Amino acid sequence: MKNFKTLLLVAAALLVSLSLGAKPKIRIIATGGTIAGVSSTSASSAYTAGQVGIQTLLDAVPQILNLADVSGEQLVNIGSQDMNDEVWLKLAKRINVLLNEEGYDGIVITHGTDTMEETAYFLNLTVKSDKPVVLAGSMRPSNAISADGPANLYNAVAAAVSPNTRGYGVLCCMNNQLLDAKTVIKTHTIDCDTFEGGPSGIIGYIYNGEAHMLQTPNNKHTINSVFDVTKLDRLPQVGIVYGYANASALPMQAFVDAKFDGIVLAGVGDGNFYKDVFDVAVKAQNQGIQIVRSSRCPTGPTCLNSEVDDEKYHFVAALDLNPQKARVLLMLALTKTHDWQEIQQFFKEY
Ligand code: DGL
Repeated sequence: MKNFKTLLLVAAALLVSLSLGAKPKIRIIATGGTIAGVSSTSASSAYTAGQVGIQTLLDAVPQILNLADVSGEQLVNIGSQDMNDEVWLKLAKRINVLLNEEGYDGIVITHGTDTMEETAYFLNLTVKSDKPVVLAGSMRPSNAISADGPANLYNAVAAAVSPNTRGYGVLCCMNNQLLDAKTVIKTHTIDCDTFEGGPSGIIGYIYNGEAHMLQTPNNKHTINSVFDVTKLDRLPQVGIVYGYANASALPMQAFVDAKFDGIVLAGVGDGNFYKDVFDVAVKAQNQGIQIVRSSRCPTGPTCLNSEVDDEKYHFVAALDLNPQKARVLLMLALTKTHDWQEIQQFFKEY
């Protein structure tokens, strides 16, 4: 009996020492993008996204191994202009398994920058964990002079292992900055500092491998989200119509004819739209297609009952969400309800 007790004590001590010395387990899920892109010459701006695999990305930043016990998997290898519902659903389900069933301490996703903000927001609403989930990309291809991908990847892992980022929802890590999923937006077509955090600014930054947080999100996300994709194998169809002077109603009509479930309008000003488009929007709403008014303006809210009487037409105002993120929330909202007032409440909370 004495020997058995001794054996138990030794085993317990070993476990404690391992747990104290063990590095956080981080899974990197690669999806493609410029970070995995290759240009014909290192000085060329011409390149193809989604060319190199996850191991090549990791080999470029061996310092990551000082931060975490890292492993990787290639989900897809695409330019993020080709990101789609099928990948989103696979990604959200895979992250939930890795974090809640396979004991990972955090996730890093390498992703193109073109639609990174949309994927980040979709995951912010569907990941069922408060562990860090951080997206990283790059504006220069992997073999470019001063490629920005390796540093962004290293910083994303640093954010994922930091206790400071837990509970902040899904984050994007670019150019030493941390941006939260709701406010992050790509603002410049080619600059490395393209990502901004809207009027509220960045949520934190990485310096010398440490994450420093500046503010906390004030919207529901991750473990506080009611949206669950576990049993979903498709998402509702929601299109976006761009507003402009003398706008044609044809794009809106095409979505109606195709029986889309919802239509977001990237309206002018405070979510206004040309009279011909407005008439089709009223008909669409009356046919059960939910209309959401957002704005083509890069900043500022789309306000409820401003120049448009939303109460009268049962339109939803996007509030702080730009058109591409309003589309994400409307898609998920339509998996829960078709009631316009319940959907408007989701836009107030998420
Ligand atoms: N094709 C674009 C994408 O994958 C390249 C932009 C980038 O990743 O920086 O989003």
